[in-house]
Amino acid sequence: MKPRHFLSLFDLTPAELQQVLRRASALKALYRRGERYAPFPGKVLAMIFEKASTRTRVSFEAGMAQLGGSAIFLAPQDTQLGRGEPIEDTARVLSSMVDLVMIRTFEHARVERFAAYSTVPVINGLTDYNHPCQLLADLQTFIEHRGDIRGRIVAWIGDGNNMCNSYLKAAIQCDFQLRIAVAPGYEPNAELLKQAAGRVVLLRDPLVAAQDADLVATDVWSSMGKEAQQQRRARDFAGYQVTAEVMAQAKPDAIFLHCLPAHRGEEVSAEVIDGPQSRVWDEAENRLHAQKALMEFLLLGESAPVA
Ligand code: CP
Ligand code: NVA
Repeated sequence: MKPRHFLSLFDLTPAELQQVLRRASALKALYRRGERYAPFPGKVLAMIFEKASTRTRVSFEAGMAQLGGSAIFLAPQDTQLGRGEPIEDTARVLSSMVDLVMIRTFEHARVERFAAYSTVPVINGLTDYNHPCQLLADLQTFIEHRGDIRGRIVAWIGDGNNMCNSYLKAAIQCDFQLRIAVAPGYEPNAELLKQAAGRVVLLRDPLVAAQDADLVATDVWSSMGKEAQQQRRARDFAGYQVTAEVMAQAKPDAIFLHCLPAHRGEEVSAEVIDGPQSRVWDEAENRLHAQKALMEFLLLGESAPVA
C-alpha cells in the first residue's frame, strides 16, 4: 500500500487537518502535565536538511524522542546526496531502514521525487514552494488563542513566498478569508491564487489588508536561497513592515504571527513582535506539538487518536 505523505496541507482532508490540530493541543496538554506518552519505541525518523534550521530540526528531533523513538539528522555535505547520489535511490534506501522521513530542501519537486520512491511517509519540512508544518503550528496557535479560524480574516503582509503559499492552502482547507499585501513582482503562486478564488484578495497596501483582521502574519523579505537579492528586496519591501500602525487597523484582539527567524526593523517592528499581540513564542513551541500529532497520524493512520 502507498504510504500517506505530508508534502502540502492538501495531503490531509479538511477533517483530518482539524483532527491533527485538536490532537496537537491534546498532546501539548499531556506534555505540560508532565505525562509521558511514548507510543513509538524503536521507530526512527530520518531528517534531511539541505537548508539551515533551528525550530524544524529541534521540534522534530525532540518530538520523536518524546514519542519514544529517535531521529537521525542528515546534512547533505555528510551524505552521498551531497555528492550527487540520485534522490530516488536515496529514497529507496532510507525508507527501507526508517519509519518516517522529513526533508527540507529548495525545489519542491525534489521532495515529490523522494516521496514517489519512498515506502514510508515523507514530511515536507519546507521547500521554496511551501511550509506546511509551520501552518499546522500557526493554525493551532490561532485556534488556542481565538477559537475556530473558519470565516475569520487573515492578513499576509510582505513576500508572496513559501509561507504565503501555505496560507493560501490553509485558507482553502480551513475556509477563512486571506488578504495578501505583497510588493509588486512578489506575488504568490498563481495557480494557488486561482484555486483560492473567493477566499483571497490580492492587495498592495498593508494598511488595507490589515483592516478588521483577526490575524496578521508576515515572514522575512529574503528567504533561504534568496540572500543574494537582499539589497533589492530591502528596497522593494520598504513600506511592507508590520508596524503598530498596521496592527491598529486590525481587530483590537488580533494576534500577530511570524514563523521565525525574524528581522526586527525589516518585515516587523520590534514593538509588534515583542508586543502584547504577538504570539510568536507559542507559535514556535507549537511546532513541537503539531508535528508530534502529525507523526502520530502518519504512523497510525486510521487508528490515530482523534483528540
Ligand atoms: N520556522 C522555521 O521553520 O524555523 P527554522 O528555519 O528554524 O526551522
Ligand atoms: N520563508 C522563509 C521561512 C523560514 C522558516 C524561508 O524560506 O527562508
